[in-house]
Amino acid sequence: MKYGHFDDIRREYVITDPRTPLPWINYLGSEEFFTLFSNTAGGYAFYKDARLRRLTRYRYNNAPLDQEGFRLYVRDGNSVWNPGWQPVQAELDSYSCRHGLGYSVISGSKDSVSVTQELLVPQGDNCLLMRVTVENAGKSEKRISLFPFIEFCLWDAVDDGANFQRNYSIGEVEVEGAAIYHKSEYRERRNHYAVFWSNRIPDGFDTSRDAFLGAYGSPARPEAVFGKGCTGSIAHGWQPVAAQQFDLKLEPCKTEKLIFGLGYIENPQEEKWLRPGIINKERASAMIARYSDDTSFENALSVLKTYWNGLLSSYQLESGDEKLNRMVNIWNQYQCMVTFNMSRSASYYESGTGRGMGFRDSCQDLLGFVHIIPDRARERILDIAATQFPDGSAYHQYQPLTKKGNLAVGSGFNDDPLWLIAGTDAYLRETGDWSILNEPTDFDNDPSLAEPLLEHLRRSFNYIKTHLGPHGLPLIGRADWNDCLNLNCFSESPGESFQTTGPSEGPVAESVFIAGMFVKYGRAWVDICRHLDLIEEAEAAEKEIAKVEQAVLSAGWDGKWFRRAFDAYGNVVGGQDCEEGQIFIEPQGMCVMAGIGQETGEAEIALQSVGNRLETKYGIMLLQPAYTRYRLELGEITSYPPGYKENAGIFCHNNPWIVCAETMLGHGNRAFDLYRKTAPAYIEDISEIHRTEPYVYSQMIAGADAPSFGEAKNSWLTGTAAWTFVSISQYILGIQPTLNGLQINPCIPRDLHSFRIVRRYRGATYRITVDNPEHVEQGVREITLGGKPIQGSVLPVLDSGAVADIHVLMG
Ligand code: GLC
Ligand code: GLC
Repeated sequence: MKYGHFDDIRREYVITDPRTPLPWINYLGSEEFFTLFSNTAGGYAFYKDARLRRLTRYRYNNAPLDQEGFRLYVRDGNSVWNPGWQPVQAELDSYSCRHGLGYSVISGSKDSVSVTQELLVPQGDNCLLMRVTVENAGKSEKRISLFPFIEFCLWDAVDDGANFQRNYSIGEVEVEGAAIYHKSEYRERRNHYAVFWSNRIPDGFDTSRDAFLGAYGSPARPEAVFGKGCTGSIAHGWQPVAAQQFDLKLEPCKTEKLIFGLGYIENPQEEKWLRPGIINKERASAMIARYSDDTSFENALSVLKTYWNGLLSSYQLESGDEKLNRMVNIWNQYQCMVTFNMSRSASYYESGTGRGMGFRDSCQDLLGFVHIIPDRARERILDIAATQFPDGSAYHQYQPLTKKGNLAVGSGFNDDPLWLIAGTDAYLRETGDWSILNEPTDFDNDPSLAEPLLEHLRRSFNYIKTHLGPHGLPLIGRADWNDCLNLNCFSESPGESFQTTGPSEGPVAESVFIAGMFVKYGRAWVDICRHLDLIEEAEAAEKEIAKVEQAVLSAGWDGKWFRRAFDAYGNVVGGQDCEEGQIFIEPQGMCVMAGIGQETGEAEIALQSVGNRLETKYGIMLLQPAYTRYRLELGEITSYPPGYKENAGIFCHNNPWIVCAETMLGHGNRAFDLYRKTAPAYIEDISEIHRTEPYVYSQMIAGADAPSFGEAKNSWLTGTAAWTFVSISQYILGIQPTLNGLQINPCIPRDLHSFRIVRRYRGATYRITVDNPEHVEQGVREITLGGKPIQGSVLPVLDSGAVADIHVLMG
């Protein structure tokens, strides 16, 4: 069942039933001011940091769902409704929500009145804008009152939800004209306030929640809206809000437009006050003046559209398959940009108050956006690298505001160092900007320890090389990519961290997955060394890689698939003799991607086992059989009920690894089949089962062991976005950046007859047409550039600004 449809021309998803299984959201803002916005106008806004500078409240876990947001009440005689349906939930005559790239539009109508709310965060400014259009489509004059309503957060979202003894006394506001200023804590150490404004003087306002909703009132039935109107309340403590009332008289066929804004303003210390107790509103007034009319809103919208069109234009596909086109051209790349902006901080599943930026997560996200915004990728790599320890290990997380490593979690996740090589390698292949390797980069955020970035990569490689266990495989530490495989932790007390209890290293527990990574990204390191003429170093590294590869093929091979690990007792994890958890997805994906067992046959056998043992109609499960009881020696993975999360859920992030692996063996049909199983646009029809947004990937889908098999959770902020984009753009469609140019090696479903890609690469535009007249899955017979055949399959790097036509003949 569907709750809407794609509008590819406008690059929107159009929701036509407000009762989506879960709130379906969009992200507004891509610089410093952000808003999460749901299909019923729920959500919240923050400046830079979703915990420390939260502008509006949001109650996760609320019932009914998704109550707080950017509410607009319409009162038409005795009837009260919201164009977004929530929170009054009055039946509407029509409803739609269009989520576009950086903007959203909700329209609702009832009794011949239609109201549209259009929201966006303008480029270059710290505010959310909302344009409201009211139309009387009836035959008689209408008297309509509009009430916008938001609830302020007292800045620190954690404190706001916990420290009530203080917070109920500190709320302060000012009201001036059509603007309501939220200035809690401005009297002391804060130099910032929030302002909610409209471009016309309201007929009433409230700033105290009790006054607007009623002491025991609810957003579904605000007393002011259902009763005698706004009261002009000024909040002192308790819950400051911004509510306004506009009484409109609308002739038939008449339309009124109003502009609203929610802004974040910072003042220099010496300019805080106009006079004692009265805040300096100069910057706010300037912001309000910037968006005072319809034209300014239109301009902001068109700037935004140009911005997004520019970003997405670096990879555009025409394949004849509209679902594939829309994933590649619009939604997958859009999601990659959102994960760049948000990392794992704020979604409807990440409260914005928890973890900072993950070292491995951020490095992997890079793989999906480096072609879109290479300059910002460069900065991100250097930020991440600066949190690395001098021995090559890394802080597992760092805080975006300070860019400092997070001590509470520390290091010991032994896959982390290799992801730095992965991210940097992707940057080099995309940009050819070798200068990044010379950038002096701190270790442990200490400038006195700074070394060129190249030295960071070297230490990453060496850290793994010097931390091998009894089978010659890398030690796992606290966990590897699978945060929940905690082989040295042995946690017995509820509430303890699974990852950071127990020693960070054991002498014995080893990871076959990290071994696969070491082979794959170790080879990337070797290529970098060779490019820099560090021949001896490259050769020495190759020897180390060969040893680990051998260890994988002996100790790491279980007969039909790659094992997962050895635990702290030296027992196999992920082998056929295990009681549960006999086969895991991660080593099959990573080892085959690394090319291990490709010539000797193990790769082929491993992927067949994935198909036989892990695949379901909704995607590939992480492991089988699921763990049915808690196992001290394996940790958090066995804490989840069977079928959820890392315990045999369909963890979408590593499904594309299998897709890439299948293409390594030339299986184009199979790769595309797997790609489609989790790609949102292909499963839109089962939205009632899948439940999360049909335009973005979710972190996980419940596996076959779960009662809710097929149900997704944790949408938006997941490494799945980056990895699926890599799998489809580089491995299936086969346009892969290398250190020396774009390599062309498609591995496609046989029935794909031809496709075209426009790829911007190092400043030049490659217009690539691929023809597959013989319907093969892989194999390039001829490539011509500007009509002339080229040698090999790597397109040369062209001058910046050049436009070239490339023709590829498969066969
Ligand atoms: C989450 C984490 C990621 C980890 C994965 C598997 O997605 O953000 O770092 O690799 O779970 O545990
Ligand atoms: C926690 C979660 C796990 C998630 C990880 C990410 O351990 O339980 O599922 O992947 O955090 O860091």
